[in-house]
Amino acid sequence: MPEYDAYSVCYDLLWANKQDDVPFYLAMAKETRGPVLELACGTGRVLLPLARAEFEVTGLDVSQAMLDKLQAKLDQEPREVQGRVALKCADMRDYRFSQKFKLVFCAFNSFLHLMTTDDQLACLRSVREYLADDGRLVLNVFAPDHNRLTGRADTEVAVERDPETGRDMVVTDISKRDLTNQTIEVWEGVDRIGDDGTVKRYSATFTLSWIHNREMHLLLRLAGFEVVAVYGGYDKRPYDYASGIQLFVAKKV
Ligand SMILES: C[S@@+](CC[C@H](N)C(=O)[O-])C[C@H]1O[C@@H](n2cnc3c(N)ncnc32)[C@H](O)[C@@H]1O
Repeated sequence: MPEYDAYSVCYDLLWANKQDDVPFYLAMAKETRGPVLELACGTGRVLLPLARAEFEVTGLDVSQAMLDKLQAKLDQEPREVQGRVALKCADMRDYRFSQKFKLVFCAFNSFLHLMTTDDQLACLRSVREYLADDGRLVLNVFAPDHNRLTGRADTEVAVERDPETGRDMVVTDISKRDLTNQTIEVWEGVDRIGDDGTVKRYSATFTLSWIHNREMHLLLRLAGFEVVAVYGGYDKRPYDYASGIQLFVAKKV
């Protein structure tokens, strides 16, 4: 999809250093013992640490450009790590595998790129087909905060450190929220200073939905899952409204 291909250019500048969720997924992989399927794996922020930790991981993403970035990183890894990873360019609503997985997860709000209830259910039903009977599904979506959704400025600008050059870079987010349909259209721009001092802009547009806690319980129930736990943090603290995140762990019924 072109919007995610464009996002792949600046994704690692923004998020490659995000690490807070990685120990949680490592612990889940250890508990279920793999093999693991990561839906919407992007450039491998979580997938690569799992493969380095000796888990068999399949990464699925709809954007070939994201997967190309991941493949380039994988090419730098030892052969044993490379041998534990399989990549598949496919839509998480509809895909085919010839194996089942002990752990299927969709990290860092990626499930929210599914914009309708039908899309979300199609994805969950596909997971159900390829999740082992004793396997676990983990979905991480942000916890919608009513004040923030209705009150936050539509444009946010921040100066951050460019992880590649160490110089300042300007990150701009323009969000158009549709409170009726529970969707957000995001324009994200990164202005980087090059070696010659000129500024170059990288930008991408993508859409997100948001999912309320009880809504997710219903989606999972409708798709044939039982919720095992809902955490409000990667340290497994219980979910509450102020948690900021919702981390659902579910199993097949
Ligand atoms: C926010 S990035 C997250 C990447 C990675 N999960 C992480 O935590 O760093 C969202 C990813 O979702 C992928 N994506 C969006 N819609 C998708 C779909 N329908 N099927 C598969 N991947 C999708 C995008 O291509 C992108 O790589």
